[in-house]
Amino acid sequence: ARIRRYKWEVKYEYKSPDCFRKVVITINGRTPGPTIQARQNDTVIVELKNSLLTENVAIHWHGIRQIGTPWADGTEGVTQCPILPGETFTYKFVVDRPGTYLYHAHYGMQREAGLYGSIRVSLPEGESEPYAYDYDRSIILNDWFHRSAFEQAAGLSSIPFQWVGEPQSLLIQGKGRFNCSSLNSPSLNVGIICNETNPECSPYVITVIPGKTYRLRISSLTALSALSFQIEGHNMTVVEADGHNVEPFVVQNLFIYSGETYSVLIKADQNPTRNYWATTNIVSRNATFTTPPGLAILNYYPNHPKRSPPTTPPSGPLWNDVGSRLNQSLAIKARKGFIVPPPQSADRMIVMLNTQNNVSGNVRWSVNKVTYTLPHIPYLIALKENITSAFDQTPPPDGYDFKNYDIFSVAENKSYTIRNGVYRLNFNSTVDIILQNANSLSNKTSETHPWHLHGHDFWVLGYGEGKFDIYNDPKKYNLVNPIMKNTVPVHRYGWTALRFRADNPGAWAFHCHIESHFYMGMGVVFAEGIERLGELPSSIKGCVHRK
Ligand code: C2O
Ligand code: CU
Repeated sequence: ARIRRYKWEVKYEYKSPDCFRKVVITINGRTPGPTIQARQNDTVIVELKNSLLTENVAIHWHGIRQIGTPWADGTEGVTQCPILPGETFTYKFVVDRPGTYLYHAHYGMQREAGLYGSIRVSLPEGESEPYAYDYDRSIILNDWFHRSAFEQAAGLSSIPFQWVGEPQSLLIQGKGRFNCSSLNSPSLNVGIICNETNPECSPYVITVIPGKTYRLRISSLTALSALSFQIEGHNMTVVEADGHNVEPFVVQNLFIYSGETYSVLIKADQNPTRNYWATTNIVSRNATFTTPPGLAILNYYPNHPKRSPPTTPPSGPLWNDVGSRLNQSLAIKARKGFIVPPPQSADRMIVMLNTQNNVSGNVRWSVNKVTYTLPHIPYLIALKENITSAFDQTPPPDGYDFKNYDIFSVAENKSYTIRNGVYRLNFNSTVDIILQNANSLSNKTSETHPWHLHGHDFWVLGYGEGKFDIYNDPKKYNLVNPIMKNTVPVHRYGWTALRFRADNPGAWAFHCHIESHFYMGMGVVFAEGIERLGELPSSIKGCVHRK
């Protein structure tokens, strides 16, 4: 195994990813940042310099379990103190599994300022995947907002509440297109630069050689949106999800939620005298009139890469077609020959009711009536060094009032509290999590939430509609060939059941990957095996001052 060293500088810069100029956060001048490329069992070392003048930073390695290095998870408030302006912090960890992963800021709502990128871990030299392809490409999908992350965060915590709204555009590998002429009253927009001929916002081009097969590693780091991705005239065969081999299945469009990664195979077997559209559009929320689809070009060599396809881009599935999305979730199974059998039973079950609430005038998201807030001293440090004043020592509840709670109506908003306790898990125990969706604060509305677990992969045991039945639904779990993932959606008014082994000493966030939802309290923290950890590196403890 090798050591892969990176030197990164994080800075503010003006960029126009969708033709509209705004301040973004770059890594070495780029957003998305550089792709980390490594082989299984390599050690990655990232020396990160924070050159943001007025802002802290922390970077999370999404999907990397950090076995033995829980302090390198990069989650501010959970595993480390923030990296202050002017400081340099070194992340060092092993990428122990092949697959497609991500990295992104994990401090406030900083991710959506553009601080993100891909991690590609290939098999050790000489080993090959159970499927064949000629070339490999990484594509990150994202949604893009013109207002800064600060303005959005301020609105979310204001009374009255100010929602972030739908994104202004969708980006494919950092490129999108906003319709500049839709900016009204230009006289009021002094200083706004929006230029549709700026090369920074020319569509992303995927060039293919006719007859060849491509592995496209498609991932989503949207702040809000659930997406559908498709390539005109080309079916996609899904082969990987969050680093695990999938029993292959063919789709025309791929539904993808924030924090998920997939690999699909496409064959360049269509008429080679033209180019084709690759498109992404929002599903699950109605953004039909607010957000145009994201467009990229599948370029058949040797056609000119910028030549627009002669067709209108495919419009994608209906935003409210819940059935197709649930079907895709159900179709994802572990590949034969690569099945990791789950433990057949669990030691503990935690049912997590997801609700939207009004807590003292603020709109918040809650789990079992607790809306989350991160402590000043990171959990990992507080737990290891026994600083009991750092956070609420009462753990959050393992369930909710199953009998009486009506998931189909607006919550009553009684007895919801802002807290920061942790779920302490017995080391090596098997834990089941049932994510239970419910109605939001608007009538007849239930949102889709992609939940992401740090430090582990989990088995996805099942999905269902309506209220989870503790006695009967577990009998329907897939204990034969469930896929393992690190991010999974809970569909509207539905439930999702997960199982994992608490076998990684550390403190780990589990949260909705929608940036604003996590900011509004939609997350929890698990802790296990802290007593097994040796001394923590002092570099993570900058914010802890003890007498
Ligand atoms: Cu990719 Cu805690 O997130
Ligand atoms: Cu959410």
